[in-house]
Amino acid sequence: MKDAVKTHYTCPELGAKIRQGLEKAGKNPEQIRLRDLAPVDQLHTGGAPATLELVRQAGLDKGMTILDAGCGIGGTSRLLAQNFDLVVHGIDLSKDFIETASMLNQWCGFAKDGTINLKQGSLPALPYRDNFFDAVLCQHVLLNIKDKPKVFAEFSRVLAPRGKLILHEIVDGPGPEPLFPVPWAGNAAASMLCSRQDLGEYAKKAGFELVFSEDKTKSAALWWEKVNAIKKAGGTGPLNPSLVFGENAGRFGANMEKNFKEQAVLCVENIWVKSNFS
Ligand SMILES: C[S@@+](CC[C@H](N)C(=O)[O-])C[C@H]1O[C@@H](n2cnc3c(N)ncnc32)[C@H](O)[C@@H]1O
Repeated sequence: MKDAVKTHYTCPELGAKIRQGLEKAGKNPEQIRLRDLAPVDQLHTGGAPATLELVRQAGLDKGMTILDAGCGIGGTSRLLAQNFDLVVHGIDLSKDFIETASMLNQWCGFAKDGTINLKQGSLPALPYRDNFFDAVLCQHVLLNIKDKPKVFAEFSRVLAPRGKLILHEIVDGPGPEPLFPVPWAGNAAASMLCSRQDLGEYAKKAGFELVFSEDKTKSAALWWEKVNAIKKAGGTGPLNPSLVFGENAGRFGANMEKNFKEQAVLCVENIWVKSNFS
């Protein structure tokens, strides 16, 4: 299972591909702004606006330390550092993604000043000490992990008392089986969806108290509808998800719009507070 996930996120020379894409789009990779990377570095439904809205909802203070759990190529980590003045730690299973994230951080001016710290690793065994983080943000990652109770236990361990767990996730819906490929899996082997109720149970068992919960499936469907309309109008430039996911990416839009519209999958947001501590 883990091999299928690793294979899905194996992408050698991704930094070089993104550099070429930027150059083709007329951008100088050494002088880019975060929004220049948005077509390729936001590997979740809703893109940067969804992240900004959810993190604002969590009400974090400047200077807080946050874990971007399953950080991909670092799009969210950079947003957190730039827009919220947070100290960010990003961890991801994919060696290629961590290397690419590090390169993009340099291009965007996040020098090695400790604002964004990256590690390769796996969420069920987090390499951080107890109570280290004020918040954990996890976007579209549990959908690739079977042992979710272990991940919730790890989130609880590394969060400080009253620390916030912010989750933006895709879960099983009441509709038909999902269509593949999708951004998190080329086929069913790498997809490990659970139900929305399961997430609640895992969080409760790990000592979390729910403070916010929203079903974002309708807006997720609309977001993919817009992505597809832009693509139809020929608006997808040289910087796009096919650099990361190859030719599968060409089928993500139609599949995801249908998956959300038919409720094969749901998009949910939850914020919990670590409340069980002594
Ligand atoms: C759909 S992408 C989302 C990336 C990022 N959160 C974002 O929204 O841009 C899923 C990410 O989860 C990572 N991932 C999958 N299983 C993981 C694990 N066990 N531990 C850490 N990261 C994992 C993948 O490598 C990939 O970067």
